Amino acid sequence: MINMSVDIGGINLKNPVLTASGTFGFGREYSGYYDLSKLGGIVVKGLTLEPREGNKPPRIAETPAGILNSVGLQNPGVEYFIKKELPFLREFDTAVIANIAGSTVEEYCIMAEKLGSLVDGIELNISCPNVKEGGAAFGVSAESVYNITRKVKEQCKVPLIVKLTPNVTDIKEIAVAALEGGADALSLINTLLGMAIDINSRKPILANAVGGLSGPAIKPVAVRMVWQVAQAVNIPIIGMGGIACWQDAIEFILAGADAVSVGTANFVNPYAPMEILEGIENYLINNQFGSINEIKGNIRL
Ligand code: FUM
Repeated sequence: MINMSVDIGGINLKNPVLTASGTFGFGREYSGYYDLSKLGGIVVKGLTLEPREGNKPPRIAETPAGILNSVGLQNPGVEYFIKKELPFLREFDTAVIANIAGSTVEEYCIMAEKLGSLVDGIELNISCPNVKEGGAAFGVSAESVYNITRKVKEQCKVPLIVKLTPNVTDIKEIAVAALEGGADALSLINTLLGMAIDINSRKPILANAVGGLSGPAIKPVAVRMVWQVAQAVNIPIIGMGGIACWQDAIEFILAGADAVSVGTANFVNPYAPMEILEGIENYLINNQFGSINEIKGNIRL
């Protein structure tokens, strides 16, 4: 029997496979495909204090190995989530992690307070590239990462996971700032800022001109960043960015991730998280490992 459980800064996951924020809604659409209780955890769509309609369309553009999105944090607001979506998610035996985003530090703090211990963890989204105020602006300097992490942590009743943006010069410096601010765990990476242009209209395809690139195209960048961060901090890491199959997930874990989040792949194959989970387990069996923790960071250099 393989031990697949992992501890993410105090959140006990039965297995290391989560679904990434923004690619799984609040789980309803996917619950028709498989039993959500089989997941290690669900990270819900980014929540804000008030409901948001998001950016103007078009806000999705396909690219050769991924998608660009400029959704702009469309969501029903934290209170609606607590009343209407969380009870549904709580029907399943899986960890529920609330991704929160805001325009000010105070907004993040209020949301953390409102969520209290209703969820298993909070993912601090300081990495969304698609909003004019806040979002990734909080995640690009070590000083602001430290400050916002420290302030939100004071309000948190559950473990705090800080989600990092790859759109920085030195990811290690940012990770260390989150750690020093009190992060219990890190998740990385969010999307890479990108752009696509329609050569006939000569206009950007996205109404917002630029958006976040996700999917297989960004996987090598994400693996590199997880590897660098794993050497710089001693808190758990949830790795993500282009994970589409179990081999991708193993790469992230060998690089130093404790768990993985499946994102864009959900749009292509709703069963991807289940196939990845089965593949990880088979890899451990075939290579005579007794637990997932034995391969964490087990890269040969
Ligand atoms: O635009 C969005 O809703 C994306 C959010 C994110 O990247 O965190």
